[in-house]
Amino acid sequence: MNEFEMNSHDLFERAKRVSPGGVHSPVRSFRSVGGDPIFFKTAQGAYLTSVENKRYIDFCQSFGPNILGHRDPDVESVVRTAVAEAWTFGACEPYSLELAEWITSRLPFVESIRFVCSGTEAVMSALRVARAATKRDLVLKFDGCYHGHADSLLVRAGSGLAGSSASDSGGVSSQVASTTVVCRLDDEREFSKAVANFGHELAAVIIEPLPANFGLLPQRREWIEHVVRRARSCGALVIFDEVISGFRVGLGGMAEQLGIKPDLVTYGKIIGGGFPVGAYAGRRDLMELVAPTGPVYQAGTLAANPIGMRAGLATLKKIEIHHVYTELESRAKYFGDWVSAELNARDLPVRLVRRASLFWLHPIPENLGSETTPEAAGERMIRRPDQMHPEAREWYSRFFRHALNAGVYLPPSPYEVCFISLAHTPEILQAAGEILVAAAEKAVK
Ligand SMILES: Cc1ncc(COP(=O)(O)O)c(C=O)c1O
Repeated sequence: MNEFEMNSHDLFERAKRVSPGGVHSPVRSFRSVGGDPIFFKTAQGAYLTSVENKRYIDFCQSFGPNILGHRDPDVESVVRTAVAEAWTFGACEPYSLELAEWITSRLPFVESIRFVCSGTEAVMSALRVARAATKRDLVLKFDGCYHGHADSLLVRAGSGLAGSSASDSGGVSSQVASTTVVCRLDDEREFSKAVANFGHELAAVIIEPLPANFGLLPQRREWIEHVVRRARSCGALVIFDEVISGFRVGLGGMAEQLGIKPDLVTYGKIIGGGFPVGAYAGRRDLMELVAPTGPVYQAGTLAANPIGMRAGLATLKKIEIHHVYTELESRAKYFGDWVSAELNARDLPVRLVRRASLFWLHPIPENLGSETTPEAAGERMIRRPDQMHPEAREWYSRFFRHALNAGVYLPPSPYEVCFISLAHTPEILQAAGEILVAAAEKAVK
């Protein structure tokens, strides 16, 4: 018996007695992949260790914050110092200032930044600023982009006018849902229609410029430019939700890669180095609307928590000093190309999509052709949810289970993406790649 004197199954049974579904965030429950979730007791680098003492290569990496891997030693030493000095002040301190200055001095579109405790809070606050700035009520989002669990964003496309919406969660009032307009990704015509219908009332258009919550759905540059142009033409603000892509695809996220200056941008995950930190940021005139300088109220007891601020800064500094993006790109490219070539050689109808150190494996829908690599697939990549393979979920649960049994922990949902960290050495990636190809093959049959 281990120190918990229980296995994952027994712990889950106990957890279900005291928490809804036994979890504190739904995707952890394994509902999408079947079976009981594994309980982990430790994490280090690229690995997780379960309460049964089984070690797994981890591609979930807490859904993204750990770009350096679990408990990176340089970040850990900063955190140890921080813990010895102060856990929370609820007062002014220099650590959030250092992180804010570090970011604003590097990202030209971040003129001012406010730290919060999660991505959800960041998005919710950015929308409030947009509504105050424009004195308009509606927000437009895209089906297939996730922006956290604020009421107005838990909506799906409705069946009425182009862009109409309905609530997508119990407890979201229809009045609140009706303040959000929903459009399809990658559809200029529908978006233009929605802007024609609602443009004069739109406070903001919010988009994940690299959607990574319904699989990885790289968008066409011209499409994103179209969205930005049309949003601005109707007086709506442009909000890039870079909670996943920020500090992941590069220091300046997708905004930098696309050369687009969003009015507001939201961050989470990497910015806190594995601690609960989010941020909203952007144009100074907009951020000055936030209390105490402006009328938009937003506050937080644990906002800019010193442990998170110092862990975040240590993470970002290490990324910069050690040229981490270059290293990650070369490792992730080698890994992605190798897996794609192996899938191809085995004639498997499965594709690996990769951007920077994010990747996603999915069965190829018949109407999207059989090319295994995104490059060969060209324009026929999946760019929005309705293009998914109808049996993507079933395939993924088999794939997930085979990978898990062989020692690779993937996000327990077909719609979540995988994260490569600096701790995933070429050797670890090679071993994991072989396991994933074998799992993909077994899952197809
Ligand atoms: C793009 C995006 N926005 C917002 C959120 C919400 O962030 P959090 O889970 O920290 O509330 C997420 C979470 O995965 C996300 O991926």
